[in-house]
Formats: sequence, structure tokens, C-alpha cells
Amino acid sequence: MPLFSAAITGVASYLPEGILTNKDLEQMVDTNDEWITSRTGIKQRHILKEPGKATSDMAAGAVKRLLEKTNTDPSEIEMVICATVTADYNFPDCANLTATKCGINNAFCYDINAACSGFLYALTTGSKFIETGSLKKVIVIGADKMSSIVNYEDRTTCVIFGDGGGAVLLEPNEEGYGMKDFVFRGDGSGVEFLYQKGGGSMYPASEETVANKEHYVFQNGRPVFKAAVTGMTTTVKEILKRNDLSLDDITWLVPHQANLRIIDSVASMLDFPKERVMQTIEMYGNTTAGTLPLCLNDYEDRLKKGDKVLLTAFGGGFTWGTSYLTWAY
Ligand code: ACO
Repeated sequence: MPLFSAAITGVASYLPEGILTNKDLEQMVDTNDEWITSRTGIKQRHILKEPGKATSDMAAGAVKRLLEKTNTDPSEIEMVICATVTADYNFPDCANLTATKCGINNAFCYDINAACSGFLYALTTGSKFIETGSLKKVIVIGADKMSSIVNYEDRTTCVIFGDGGGAVLLEPNEEGYGMKDFVFRGDGSGVEFLYQKGGGSMYPASEETVANKEHYVFQNGRPVFKAAVTGMTTTVKEILKRNDLSLDDITWLVPHQANLRIIDSVASMLDFPKERVMQTIEMYGNTTAGTLPLCLNDYEDRLKKGDKVLLTAFGGGFTWGTSYLTWAY
């Protein structure tokens, strides 16, 4: 048994001002609002357009709001973890840059790269430092500037992704609320279906990788769709079973926002009522590591102390899993 529970005690988000609508995309690629809406549920996405701004700027926007909302002095923060696939640089990490932009100078910081499951993994990682009594205040961020790796000539990907993210504060909770359990899985054979081929140690940036457009997201949508539905559904069922929970016990299901049809399929395979499934995809698109904290932020007013919440995600890697927590405020 952990010494303390680790609970989320605040959440905040950041979305850049720029908006890219389906109508805008109609002018850019061979697509239309009807196709995008019926296949994905997305109507618009936010895009970070200002030159010289990157993921750490969005993450810092969320963290500054979080510190203000929770009345926390930056000097009290001991650890910052940022889940992202679009860090400002290959190194150093985005978490360090974010912390410095927020005046957080007493913390150790690092990134987690697990694509759309990144925030889920980072939340569990951060919570373990609290449960062991090592730390008292940990910030977990999920943020991505997907527009920096999306090819706006590729209609199969450019309609899906957006920019934005959010952050939560984790603190010890003596009433037993907070992080309860997780089931996470990975399968590296999924690489061929969803990845950014160029710029890593396999295919370092070269004239050839640029000419071949290998620095953009590549996705083969169909197999990813199927694996996402299966991965999220099976890990939700596993969590329910081993915690002796029924779906009636769960107040909120918070799925990664990749595609409305994926969200609907997961809910219907589980027989879970749609009115208790958090949804932001229509307005933000898929912000990769950003979708889960964006959901929590937008539904914060509707969350109540003691609510049983399942967060579930699936992403490139493949990575996937489900976390179970009780809301602490
Ligand atoms: N507008 C119009 N037509 C399009 C568009 C578009 N934007 N995009 C594709 N099409 C066409 C295709 O070319 C194809 O035409 P064809 O039949 O003549 O070849 C047709 O529409 C069907 O294409 P599919 O790819 O089969 O369409 P699908 O219904 O599978 O939808 C989508 C595609 C939205 C990408 C879906 O497969 C999906 O959401 N997949 C999963 C995404 C996901 O969960 N990703 C994981 C997280 S992301 C991460 O980790 C970074």
C-alpha cells in the first residue's frame, strides 16, 4: 500500500488563438466539411501561429494558470513532467524550458514521449513520487504543437491534428482520493502505422528526408483506428475487473480525443452512456498528449469530489492504457 494517495488538486489548459476550421481546410486540400465532420467529428482546431513560439510556450501558459488557480508559488514545485512528441528541440527537454518560463527553479524536469498516451503515463509516473512520500508537489503537462509536424498538403492527417495542452498539479491526499490503478501496454510493431520517420537516429535530417517529406506525421488510419478501439476497450475492462467496479460505478470516462467515431465505438462496445463520456474533439481536434488534460479542464466544473474517473488513451508506438482515479475536489 502506498504511504499517501496522489491526487489531482488543480487543472489548467492553454489553447493558442489561431483557429483552423474545416472551411479553411477546404481551401488547402481536397476535402470538405461533411467528410471531416462525419469521419472525425472535428469542426475546428487551434493552431500556434506566432513565429518563435513552441510547445513550451503553450505548456507554460497552462502551468502559469495552474499555479495561479491553485495559489501555488513556483518555488514549491519539486518536479515537472511534460508529455509531448513535439518538444521545442530534440534536446533539451520541453519540461525544463517550461519550468524556467514559469519561474520554477527548485524542480527536476523531464519529458515523456508516448504519443497520445503520454499524459496518462506521465500522470502515473508523477503520482509514484508522491505515493512514496518523496515529493509533495508535482506538475504533469500534456502539450503538443502538432502543426509543426503536420503536412498541410496531406488531407489524411492535416484534418485531424491541432495544437494545445494542459497541466495538472499532483499532491498527497490523506482522505484516500486520487490515483488508484493503471493498466498500460505497448507494442513497438505498431511503428509502421503511425510515426514521424525522419529526424531521429534512424533517419537523421538530410536533404533526402526533407525532399521525401519524412519529417511529417505518417498515419495509416484504418489499422490505427481498429487497434485504438480494441486497446482502450480491453484496458478499461481489465481495470474494472481488478478493482471490482461496474460501469455504473464510473462517473466519467475520459478517452483520448483522436476521432469521434473511435470515442463512440469505445463507449458502445463498453455499453457506457455517452452523456458521461468527456468530449472536446469538435473544437480542438487531436492535440496528441494534450487531449486528456484539456478534457479535465473543460469538465472541471462538472467533476465532483469522489467521482470515479477512467482515463483511457491510445497512441503511436503503439502505446495504450487506462488509469482509474477518484476526483479529489
Ligand atoms: N477528405 C476527403 N477524403 C479523404 C480525406 C479527407 N480529409 N482523408 C482521406 N480521404 C479519403 C481517402 O483518400 C479514401 O479515399 P479512397 O477510398 O478513394 O482511397 C477514403 O477517404 C477513406 O479513407 P480512410 O483512411 O479509409 O478513412 P477512414 O474512415 O479510416 O478515416 C481517419 C480516416 C480519420 C484517419 C481514421 O482512420 C482515424 O481516425 N484513424 C485513427 C486515428 C488515431 O486514433 N490515431 C491515434 C492517435 S494519434 C497519435 O498517436 C499521434
